[in-house]
Amino acid sequence: MSEMNNQVPILKIEDLKVYFPIKKGLMRRTVGHVRAVDGVDLQIAPGETLGLVGESGCGKTTIGRAIVRLNEPTNGRIIYNDSTDLLKLEGEELRQIRKKFQIVFQDPYSSLNPRKTVKRLISEVLMVQMGMNQNEAYEEVKHLMNEVGLNAVYAERYPHEFSGGQRQRVAIAKAIALQPEFLVCDEAVSALDVSIQSQIINLLMDLKEQHGNMTYLFISHALNVVEHISDRVAVMYLGKIMELAKTEELFDNPAHPYTKALLSAIPIISGMKQKERIVLQGEVPSAANVPSGCRFHVRCPYATERCSQEEPQLKEIAPGHFCACHLTE
Ligand SMILES: Nc1ncnc2c1ncn2[C@@H]1O[C@H](COP(=O)(O)OP(=O)(O)OP(=O)(O)O)[C@@H](O)[C@H]1O
Ligand code: SF4
Ligand SMILES: [Mg+2]
Repeated sequence: MSEMNNQVPILKIEDLKVYFPIKKGLMRRTVGHVRAVDGVDLQIAPGETLGLVGESGCGKTTIGRAIVRLNEPTNGRIIYNDSTDLLKLEGEELRQIRKKFQIVFQDPYSSLNPRKTVKRLISEVLMVQMGMNQNEAYEEVKHLMNEVGLNAVYAERYPHEFSGGQRQRVAIAKAIALQPEFLVCDEAVSALDVSIQSQIINLLMDLKEQHGNMTYLFISHALNVVEHISDRVAVMYLGKIMELAKTEELFDNPAHPYTKALLSAIPIISGMKQKERIVLQGEVPSAANVPSGCRFHVRCPYATERCSQEEPQLKEIAPGHFCACHLTE
């Protein structure tokens, strides 16, 4: 895949596979694998926001967790700044680089210990990971609270004492406390009311500017949100990237039948260009039993004989626009 604007990618993901074993019986024998991520190549430029979309279960979270090393990939390389393979790091080296990669989840409770005040939980992170003393850490907590738009006195509260939007701000404060270069936002606004969603999105965009060149992988099933925040968008289906392009290009000229189907599910706002409508048939097949050939062929209205036999590769069909479909080769 060509590099974006000739920049060295901050991350170059190559043939990433994450398979989960399926175990059965008393002996917990492995009887198969869930191919959650099944051969993904992706490059992310420093400072860019890459949106990652696709139906539930297609492997978005698994990619995000692999980047921050919460999942051990089965295969592949995740090259940082064209030099270090993150998957080969261990011990102190891994600990150091891990700080640069943070993740914000849909449910902020998952990263916030309910028994600690915000001041305590963030200051502990700062003392342990950044080597600050207690006073320095408390000062930094105040600064972080202000940065995410919360009154610093709220730091004395426990996570359950915040509203949903405020709690997500706290989770973001904790994530940026380590001054990451890369932030995975995994459905970070999906559980919030629409008005709160846009506040958090604006916060993320502001933080990016204030922190120089933070890079985001923005995972969401909400296409309108992804369109608003992303520079480029990758569309995933059953563990593979099906299409990747600049946001405007993807939304104006989707090439892959799956992308077209996803986009035709968005309500058309008056004045918007009417897109070719494709209604998806059936459910997403199981990632434990991926269809042969093009994995989308069992649901694709354009499928031919070839599609059930031969897997299409992700190819550049226009500058910076990649698609994995025999029709666009
Ligand atoms: N720890 C695990 N063990 C076994 N299977 C898993 C595990 N984590 C995820 N999976 C499976 O891997 C596939 C991809 O899951 P993943 O959570 O990455 O999808 P997703 O695109 O994030 O979906 P959603 O939009 O619902 O969040 C699914 O089939 C899921 O059931
Ligand atoms: S390769 Fe065939 S089945 Fe797959 S998306 Fe293209 S036309 Fe549809
Ligand atoms: Mg997910």
